[in-house]
Amino acid sequence: MTVPVRERVEPKVALADIQRPISQLLDSVPAEMMRIVAVDEALLTAVHAHLFARRGKLIRPTLLLLCSQIEGKPEARALSYAAVIELIHVATLVHDDSVDHSVLRRGMPTVNALFTHQVAVIAGDFLYSRAVQELVRLGDLDALAVLAAASNELTVGEMRQLAALDALAFGEEDYVRLIRAKTAALFSAACEVGALCGARGFRERLAQYGNHLGMAFQVADDLLDYTESSDTLGKPVGQDLREHKVTLPLIAALPRLDKRARGIVEELFAAAEPAEDLVRQVIAIVSEVGGLDYARERGRRYAELAARELGALPAGAARSALEAAVSYVMERHS
Ligand code: IPE
Ligand code: IPE
Ligand code: MG
Ligand code: MG
Repeated sequence: MTVPVRERVEPKVALADIQRPISQLLDSVPAEMMRIVAVDEALLTAVHAHLFARRGKLIRPTLLLLCSQIEGKPEARALSYAAVIELIHVATLVHDDSVDHSVLRRGMPTVNALFTHQVAVIAGDFLYSRAVQELVRLGDLDALAVLAAASNELTVGEMRQLAALDALAFGEEDYVRLIRAKTAALFSAACEVGALCGARGFRERLAQYGNHLGMAFQVADDLLDYTESSDTLGKPVGQDLREHKVTLPLIAALPRLDKRARGIVEELFAAAEPAEDLVRQVIAIVSEVGGLDYARERGRRYAELAARELGALPAGAARSALEAAVSYVMERHS
């Protein structure tokens, strides 16, 4: 069984387009992160050198910086908050890859693969606690509260995912609750803290924008796990099925399966280490019954909700970039 060939739609919006209004500041984020995590401990320093050798898309710092500029000139501390939000994100990735037993991230070996799971746990804690120390140094209790709440919610989300015992009984409502916690919470926090650094009057609206955008972003991420190659993505594909993680495409497909197809899905979920062919078969089944199309539609709806929040914002380069980000999250290939 093969996955039906789908024409590759090239995104109309590139990440660079969104980042243009803040590109100079964004280029300073990696150095700011290095300043925050500098430590006199050889193993941690080695982990940091590996982790920061490749930058990710920097989507959360991008959103934070854009939101901080919605009313014009942002406060200088926006840069430190941009570094903090990326550090929190990277800390969750280090832990997530260890939990998922994943070996590839940003096209490089994960910390758990290159070092050990123990190192990944400790290094993730280190990054997170340095982010908190930096927040204390910055001294804005509102921003600290927003980021502490988001980090806490993220952890609850990751645990919910782990605790979903009967994977095939995991429904759309469970999924929505999960991705709100594990992804949308941090997107929302990025936008809200951005607002705190220069556009306080739009705090609520930007937080809502980030929330909806984060939902769309995770739906897209879950789609990419079905549709992309690991070369483009820089992380393994089919990993969610391999790890018995039920995401929206499969949730939508399950009620539409005939007995034979359902049997194949159940076989995958019964296998501790599903064979690659079985993973490919399930991907094809999900695609054939419209699971991918359903998820795309749901993702687009979240993206529309995000776009609606932007109507009341002052026009300008920052708002245009936030609008472009709405198209970008659903069209992206990595
Ligand atoms: C990956 O986030 C984790 C999810 C919430 C899907 P990103 O796709 O932003 O990862 P990087 O930072 O660009 O590598
Ligand atoms: C995002 O979910 C998890 C985090 C919030 C860190 P995924 O497990 O789908 O992220 P990837 O696909 O490994 O990047
Ligand atoms: Mg993962
Ligand atoms: Mg994923």
